[in-house]
Amino acid sequence: MCGISAIASHRPVAGSLLQCLKNLEYRGYDSCGMAIFDQGKIELRKNVGHVAKVDEVEQFHEMQGQIGIAHTRWATHGGVTQANSHPHASNDGTFVVVHNGIFSNYQALRNELKSKGFVFHSDTDTEVLANLLQDLYVGIGDVEKTFVAAVKRLEGSYAVAVLTPYLPNQILGAKKDSPLVLGLGDGENYLTSDINAYISQTRDTVLLGDLEYVIVSKENYQVKSLVTGETLHKEVIQVQWDKETAKMGGYSHFMLKEIFDQPQTVNNALAIDDTQIQAVAERFLSKTHNFACGVGTTFYVAMVTSYLFKRYAGLYVPAVSSDEFPTLLPLSADQHTLFFSQSGETYDTRMAVRAAQNAGGATSAVVNVVGSSISQMVDQCIFQGSGPEICVVSTKAAFSQVVIGWRIAMRVGRLNGTLPAAEEQRILGVLASFSDLLERTLNEESGFIRQLAKKTSHIHNWLFMGKDIYYPVALESALKMKEVTYLHAEGLPAGFLKHGTLAMVDEKLYSLFFLPSPEEGELYRSTLAAIEEVKARNGVVVSFATEDNHEAREKMDYCIQLPKLPKELNPLMQLVLAQLFSYYSALHLGLNIDKPRNLAKSVTVG
Ligand code: G6P
Repeated sequence: MCGISAIASHRPVAGSLLQCLKNLEYRGYDSCGMAIFDQGKIELRKNVGHVAKVDEVEQFHEMQGQIGIAHTRWATHGGVTQANSHPHASNDGTFVVVHNGIFSNYQALRNELKSKGFVFHSDTDTEVLANLLQDLYVGIGDVEKTFVAAVKRLEGSYAVAVLTPYLPNQILGAKKDSPLVLGLGDGENYLTSDINAYISQTRDTVLLGDLEYVIVSKENYQVKSLVTGETLHKEVIQVQWDKETAKMGGYSHFMLKEIFDQPQTVNNALAIDDTQIQAVAERFLSKTHNFACGVGTTFYVAMVTSYLFKRYAGLYVPAVSSDEFPTLLPLSADQHTLFFSQSGETYDTRMAVRAAQNAGGATSAVVNVVGSSISQMVDQCIFQGSGPEICVVSTKAAFSQVVIGWRIAMRVGRLNGTLPAAEEQRILGVLASFSDLLERTLNEESGFIRQLAKKTSHIHNWLFMGKDIYYPVALESALKMKEVTYLHAEGLPAGFLKHGTLAMVDEKLYSLFFLPSPEEGELYRSTLAAIEEVKARNGVVVSFATEDNHEAREKMDYCIQLPKLPKELNPLMQLVLAQLFSYYSALHLGLNIDKPRNLAKSVTVG
């Protein structure tokens, strides 16, 4: 998992490549590097650390030249060292490569090249490609043919960009199962892992497909099939994302900005054309078995929708984690799976899509990144239009997926006769009212939540609990807390507490309960009962309630105040307020909130 950038331009590229590195840093930030061609040779600088730190050491801006490649790395093969950082050069320095993905057959290729006398300076799979290019070029003598021949020998997943003095005005790129897009600028062209890299320069984009390669110069580009060699005529699309959206605005972190973006995100999710919702809903009725699937946060989104399918369509749509999907399910053609993925690139989810399709099953997806792999793989894709999500942990994108899942579940319910049309309209109206309420509540409750986080940030063990739809909300909130604070937060069903975990409860254990509204009857009562079980053992309870809910407030040590709101919005509101609690806890602990340790925005390797 890494970010690739390459630019061919009429002007020096070091500054633009550095900006691309910064824009793609969320894809990985172990190390970074740059290679630029100038006056007959390629200069290469790279080092470990965040982009800004590496730039301080390596002084990228000193590099001359109008064509170059760059890379920000998230380690897969080999540790975080300067030698393992990209770009990687061939032994004679004539081929320089950046790569995202894994060459699964790299060991065999490495042995083969070693037997021919090549020396390897890193532990990476990527270095194999640089040397393979050098080796093949000797016999072939043509760069493009050499590139195709080399790439055809690669197995696994890859997006690569190659710079060579043999072709001083062009960059070569290819992809399979890893993202690569082409940005068309004015007198310069970009080849990058995603649109974020160049959005401030151009919106004109060409989406590259798997097993395609591209030759890019400052004024031209040519896309060809790796399989047939024929030239492909690709559509140029205009990316609609506002470049300002990708910046932090006045917020101290992207996570905070993205939490506060959510009122707008809800509106965007509700504005998605009804025909798209209908098309996915119809797929649910076309098959006997339906599943919802995602991984990490998106698995919890899938779990939330699972409850919504029961509630509105009377269907059991099991949520399955992408990494378990291929082994857990007896896959068949009589199945439809709805996938959720912010990036559209997550390896586990891509493999689950593939497994479903290999069995002949139908697939649909809710994806944020236009042109991403999953969006191109599935039969039906809804683009959620949440705008770029820069913080590594997902907030607004996941939230938007919940709203879209909600619409799909209701539409399936309407189509199968479970949900009257008027009720669907009423709930859509409730969801539409959420935006203003959420914005107000975020502003009103921020101060209290910040104080609470300060008081509790020394607590190393949390239980996050809820019942029914509040259960996946608790799971997702616990994941958020773990991701940004590195504190232990265990999500579990509130009803499960008494079956074991209660043994842990004492005055040092804090619990965050997601509490249904009193209108929800038995659900509310039984969650309150679980709170009492914790209180009876001196556990400390944090939960949510409206100002007038004295019964519940009395049972809590700390109460995050909810506004009066329709019961449908209650779990959504608590999900967002819990995001804010995680954010402020991490802020108080002084952690790297937008880039937590050991994480990457989209895990594109298995
Ligand atoms: C990674 C991220 C998680 C994310 C998951 C799924 O593990 O660290 O935060 O939830 O991938 O990502 P996706 O892009 O498929 O939604």
